[in-house]
Amino acid sequence: MTDAYFQQLNQVLKNYHRAVPCLLIDLDILDKNIKTLQSNLNPNAAFRIVVKSLPCIDLLDYVMQKMATKKLMVFHQPFLSSLVARLDQDADILLGKPMPIKTALYFYENLPETSSGFNSYKQVQWLVDTEQRIREYIDLAKKLGQCLRLNVEIDVGLHRGGFKDKEALKAGLKLISQHKDHVSLSGLMGYDPHVVKLPRFIRSQKKALQLANDFYENCKEVIRKKFPDLWTNELTFNGAGSPTLNLHKNDSPLNDLSAGSCLVKPRAFDIPTLSDYEPAAYIATPVLKHFKNTNLPALEKMKGLLNLISSVNRQSFFIYGGFWQADYCYPKGVKQNSIFGASTNQTMLNAPKTTPLYVDDFVFLRPHQSEFVFLQFGKILALRNGKIEDRWQVLKN
Ligand SMILES: Cc1ncc(COP(=O)(O)O)c(C=O)c1O
Repeated sequence: MTDAYFQQLNQVLKNYHRAVPCLLIDLDILDKNIKTLQSNLNPNAAFRIVVKSLPCIDLLDYVMQKMATKKLMVFHQPFLSSLVARLDQDADILLGKPMPIKTALYFYENLPETSSGFNSYKQVQWLVDTEQRIREYIDLAKKLGQCLRLNVEIDVGLHRGGFKDKEALKAGLKLISQHKDHVSLSGLMGYDPHVVKLPRFIRSQKKALQLANDFYENCKEVIRKKFPDLWTNELTFNGAGSPTLNLHKNDSPLNDLSAGSCLVKPRAFDIPTLSDYEPAAYIATPVLKHFKNTNLPALEKMKGLLNLISSVNRQSFFIYGGFWQADYCYPKGVKQNSIFGASTNQTMLNAPKTTPLYVDDFVFLRPHQSEFVFLQFGKILALRNGKIEDRWQVLKN
């Protein structure tokens, strides 16, 4: 982003009625990223939004509407509870990780009043990764007197859990098949970010993708051939994520692709497969204090020396907050003082003499990731045309 972009945002924020650390989303850039995503997506697959990476109802609504999807992937029970109160009868939620059985029970015992038409038994796919977990969900279904939908996690090479061979998968599917009054198979989930993250000398991207897809195909074959009673054309074969979404074209075993982070592109997503996406989220925080040198506790006599050692010590500042998983990006040259250390309250920054930064100006940072970082800012400021267009509440933890 250009200096002019941040200078203009600085003016907008200085004219705003409140000065606290805030999370900004540029809707014009988000729109561009949505277009890029649409052009990248395999048209034969459904798109599922990863809620933890865009953890804000208004932001999710915005993306759901533009991407014309009501499929979500959820990783946190409080988010699940908030969402089911708002979604309608066409929505579909797939859990992105297996929920402890107590958490699933808690969710059902504390279902929010819903007038939106969402059915929390029929429209949620619980992720199961072991035979033990399947048994627990069968028992829960019996206890609730409801049929639950189970999606089976398979290990396509990431080794973060899930069924890792055909024999284990058969045993799991057998259990589901034997308890069809209580549970139904809703599909498979195999997450594959390792495909683009492995160093080339260990395994090429092409090879890792092929191995992951072959295993996925084999697992589908096990259902089709060995458990035809569980096979339907409606099964969800979910996989991918921002890093690999681009790689799943017509020959992919997946019919359901999930992603979230690429739309706001935090720094951890500066990877070759996402080079067409642009950063759309920044943190902005006000400068509280400005000094003409760097004065550290017990090193008062070293002020001059510090200036000599590095020109960046010529000015020092304290900002509102600062200990975020994020990098300083504007003004250029601004750095956290490593001796003073980061503080969630007031962080000391340094900058060369020429850096034009004063009390009440804003400093801009780029988050490393969107999940969790967004939750640290109560409201997201949605920008359009460089102006604040809306304020969006983040999901409650
Ligand atoms: C199961 C699963 N699917 C998809 C994703 C992709 O999310 P994102 O696109 O935000 O990287 C993740 C991220 O952790 C995941 O765990």
